[in-house]
Amino acid sequence: MDLHLMGKSAVVTGASKGIGLAAVQALAAEGAHVVAGARTSSADLEVLVAGGRVEFLPVDLATPAGPASLIEHALGRGRLDILVNNVGAVTPRPDGVTAVSDSDWDSTLNLGLMAAVRTIRAAVPGMVAAGGGAVITISSVNASLPDPLVVDYSATKAALTNYCKSLSKEVGPRGVRVNTISPGPVETALWLGEHGVAQVVSHAGASTPAEVAAAAAAQAVTGRFTRPEEVADLVLILASDRFANVTGADFRIDGGLVQTL
Ligand SMILES: NC(=O)c1ccc[n+]([C@@H]2O[C@H](COP(=O)([O-])OP(=O)(O)OC[C@H]3O[C@@H](n4cnc5c(N)ncnc54)[C@H](OP(=O)(O)O)[C@@H]3O)[C@@H](O)[C@H]2O)c1
Repeated sequence: MDLHLMGKSAVVTGASKGIGLAAVQALAAEGAHVVAGARTSSADLEVLVAGGRVEFLPVDLATPAGPASLIEHALGRGRLDILVNNVGAVTPRPDGVTAVSDSDWDSTLNLGLMAAVRTIRAAVPGMVAAGGGAVITISSVNASLPDPLVVDYSATKAALTNYCKSLSKEVGPRGVRVNTISPGPVETALWLGEHGVAQVVSHAGASTPAEVAAAAAAQAVTGRFTRPEEVADLVLILASDRFANVTGADFRIDGGLVQTL
């Protein structure tokens, strides 16, 4: 199926590894030009940059001005068709909900919610003026599956999904589609890397990181984590005007982890 993404212009946040990197790779493979934002590049991202369709912009998206500078850079090439709000991070809270400090909350809300709000604020007016665009935001199953171990992350993702739904109502009549993707555990550094969820939970208990990850995988009907490329394929679909009447929707990709409809 031709997704009509050839020649489109895209921005991906948190793009040097994990889901963001997979989204950059997938969009570039479909012929889009992608501006990839992260604090540091990576060997995998540099390979894509060398391919000619991807540009890396070093940016700290946790700063108030970072998101706008990324969008401003992308708009220097002309219009922006696709925005993938992917940046996010999780810090497990093994000491319990009441041990989460104001500064912990500030930092999770800032990167998990405000970075997307600020990026959208910079990008969407231009899409509205141009009469079209697609905004895809990576939320989480935790938006509707609150978990004390990631209490601030869960609340932040709930706010993010809710914010995107509001936005979809405002800009939908002007041709801009806004959708969210809610993954369960994905095979990335966030879960499996140094200081990732598996390692932190392992340090707080009696299991090894591999056992923590295996237990999480076993909660899915499919018995495994999602691969970043599988999330990226969903990004492509939501970016494509083949799916022009899909907006204000949330797509769960969790191997059947969430038991309810
Ligand atoms: N992995 C999962 O199980 C899972 C499940 C559900 C939802 N998600 C969501 O999916 C998104 C991506 O997660 P992931 O697992 O792919 O994470 P990841 O592997 O940890 O990658 C995070 C990316 O964000 C960048 N980043 C982090 N802080 C940044 C900052 N302040 N400014 C700019 N870039 C920054 C990182 O690069 P630098 O460090 O170089 O900046 C990296 O490229 C997040 O929103 C996450 O909440 C993940």
